Amino acid sequence: MKPTARIITRTLLTPLLVGLLAAASLAGCAALTGNIVKVQSLRGTDVQAPDTETVSPKLIGDREPVKRNFDQQPPLIPHEVEDYKITKTANKCLQCHSWMDAEEDGPTKVSQTHFKDRSSTDDANLSTRRWFCVQCHIPQTDAKPLVENSYKSAKAKE
Ligand code: HEC
Ligand code: HEC
Repeated sequence: MKPTARIITRTLLTPLLVGLLAAASLAGCAALTGNIVKVQSLRGTDVQAPDTETVSPKLIGDREPVKRNFDQQPPLIPHEVEDYKITKTANKCLQCHSWMDAEEDGPTKVSQTHFKDRSSTDDANLSTRRWFCVQCHIPQTDAKPLVENSYKSAKAKE
């Protein structure tokens, strides 16, 4: 670049660019303030308004296993779990679902995948990553859905 061209770039183009950028951001701000989105809760009320509906869903009692909606879905729990405690040292779920303690023709045993450690190596013991079952397996309640849901299972879409 010739020295004169460099001077022109510095003295003329730079302020022009800065000016253009400033104008663009001002226009952006104006568009934003003119178009404030009001944040609402899923029930359609103001997020800061106190909850008017008291929801006390009941756990659904024992029933048949629930159909899975997609491959790799952690199956939903089809029974109550209120009395099934999981602590650091004891896990009531395993009394019925482990390979070691459960009866042979008893409830479905924990998946073989639950014995793999994080490097996918099989272990004889349940992986600690799978100790807290209800992190992934969820008991069901009779709660009404908060919003309409048109979800269809992967199978139903086929
Ligand atoms: C007293 C025995 C018992 C205990 C304790 C128990 N379950 Fe179950 N569980 C069952 C029975 C029976 C079924 C239904 C039959 C089946 O799926 O094998 C079942 C089904 C399930 C299923 C569905 C399996 C599928 O393939 O759809 C999951 C997930 C499950 N239980 C998780 C748990 C978790 C998590 C706990 C602890 C919070 C737990 N269970 C404690 C007896 C038990
Ligand atoms: C990190 C998530 C996670 C945790 C924690 C977990 N599971 Fe699972 N579980 C899954 C997933 C995902 C599947 C389905 C895919 C598979 O088999 O791995 C599954 C499958 C199962 C099945 C069905 C097995 C079959 O043969 O169809 C049972 C029963 C089960 N889990 C019980 C348990 C119990 C009991 C615990 C606690 C000791 C537990 N799981 C902890 C994610 C988890």
